[in-house]
Formats: sequence, structure tokens, C-alpha cells
Amino acid sequence: MGSKNGIAEWVVKNLPSSHTFVDLFAGGCAITHAAMLSGKWKSFVANDISDAPQLFRDAVEGKYANEERWISREDFFMFKDSDPYIRVCWSFGNCGRTYIYSRELEPYKRALHRMLFAKTVAERRVAFSTVAWELYALCKAGKEFNTSVRNMGSLQSMENLQRLQNMGSLQSMENLQRLRIMQGDYREVEIPDGATVYCDPPYIGTEAVTNKKCYGYGFDHEEFYGWLRDAPFPVYVSEYSMPDDFVEIASIGKRCTSSPKNNSRKTTERLFVHERWAGKVKGRSCYGGIFD
Ligand SMILES: C[S@@+](CC[C@H](N)C(=O)[O-])C[C@H]1O[C@@H](n2cnc3c(N)ncnc32)[C@H](O)[C@@H]1O
Repeated sequence: MGSKNGIAEWVVKNLPSSHTFVDLFAGGCAITHAAMLSGKWKSFVANDISDAPQLFRDAVEGKYANEERWISREDFFMFKDSDPYIRVCWSFGNCGRTYIYSRELEPYKRALHRMLFAKTVAERRVAFSTVAWELYALCKAGKEFNTSVRNMGSLQSMENLQRLQNMGSLQSMENLQRLRIMQGDYREVEIPDGATVYCDPPYIGTEAVTNKKCYGYGFDHEEFYGWLRDAPFPVYVSEYSMPDDFVEIASIGKRCTSSPKNNSRKTTERLFVHERWAGKVKGRSCYGGIFD
């Protein structure tokens, strides 16, 4: 939920380089990951109030290189609070609360998973005939065939796992020493002098905030704006909109994929900085006279 995977490179490209990159709302660390690959910083701090960044650290350390478990709905609810891999990668939209697949599609996905991870041809054949049988049963029941079949072909859990496994490419002692993972409130993180500070907070007005969905607690945006206004260093913020004293430094169109109802919703992602710092953003000096 809220992952910046699709626009991570764009975000990183628009941030000034320095010695340290600080990601105060790191979540699954999509931005920290892109920042580490960019070569713009030497050290990285990834903080979040949840333990999600630990999943990233574990992935970088190669913990998921041999992962191939099928996690059922029952397993999900039993283990989600103790295992961040199960909570994040096996939940709908990575939100950590609801299971990744509907009850109707779960048997197909399980069969597809078995096919993909089968060690022998015989095992693969059994899994294949299960998929065919389930498909036949679905058609016979006159269920929404098209949507089900379309959804059947991809395994989101597999894509999540592959992403984690790719992170293993960062696994060198040097990279691991350069990455510091923290769990706490954004205001408690000690910021090294001259660091590039980035925030991707829960977006104002989104369901995750208004219904306290997914993150499990609310977020006080007024307090956040106050903290940004007082901060003795520039802080770059991802949001759809910000109060008038914040200046947009970049924007990009993005397709919203975390909505269960409407996959094709388009949004504009924006990067902001408080007006006190707007004139100091590298390579950008003119904001229509806002900077004094
Ligand atoms: C939009 S998500 C960040 C997504 C992240 N950039 C990624 O790519 O995965 C917002 C994050 O803010 C975290 N969060 C909420 N309140 C927080 C707080 N007070 N301090 C630090 N993190 C907080 C949530 O746990 C969530 O992971």
C-alpha cells in the first residue's frame, strides 16, 4: 500500500545528492532501494513506525533467496503479526491486513504456485490438472469467467517474492554497512548534518488515513506540516497536495494500482519542499518570486 516502486527512480532523480540519504517513512523501502542503486549517496537511513524496513534488510541479506512456501489464508492470519514477509507480500495491495487472493481464486493461485515451484514433471502435471479442473468448475458455475481467468494468470505473491529476491543483488558487506534500519516516529530520527531528507507519509485524504486502514493508526498532518516548517534542514515530501507555503519541485502522472475497485485511476505524484528552501534546490532557482 502506497509503495513508490513505479516512480522510485523518478523520485531519486529529483532529489539533491549528498553524503547520506534519509527516508523517514520508508515502508517497504522502494525509495531507499532506488537511492542505493543510484550512486548519489554513500550512506542510507531507512526509518518507519512499522517493522516493514526490516523486510528490506532481510531481503538484502538474502533471507528470501530460497523462499518458496505457499501461504494459505489460514497461514496468513496466523503468522502475519510475527512475520513481515507474510504480512506484506501475502496481503492485498501489501496492506498487511487482508489476504492477497479472494476465496474464489485461491485454489487456482495455489495450483499455479505449485506448478511454478514443482521439482518434478509429475508434480507439475498434477498442479496443471488442478488448474484445469478448477477452471472447468468455475465455467460450469457460470461465474464471472473473464475477470477470473484474466486474474488467474498472474501470481502477485510471486512478483512480490521476485522483487525481494532481486534485492539480494545489494548483498555486499559494504552495502549492508552503509544501510541503517530504524523503527520509530519520523520526529525521533537524528538527522546527520547536510543529509538529504525524504518523506513519503500516509497521503492526506486517502483511505489508509481516513479509515485508519492498513497502517493501523491515524496520522496528524497538521503536526507534520508544523515539523516541516520548523525543521532546520530541507525536507523533500511526496504528496498529492500540500499547504500553500510548500513549493512543488516536480510532478509525474501515475496509474493507481492499489485501488481494488478501479485499477485505471490516474493520479499525479508531486514532490514538495517548504518555501524557505525552494530557492536552494540544486538547478532550480526560480519559483515566481516565492523565495525571499
Ligand atoms: C506511503 S507509505 C511509505 C511507502 C514507502 N515509500 C514505500 O515505497 O514502500 C507511508 C509509511 O509511513 C509510515 N508511518 C506512518 N506514521 C508514521 C510515523 N509517525 N513515523 C514514521 N513512519 C510512519 C507507515 O507505516 C507507512 O509505511
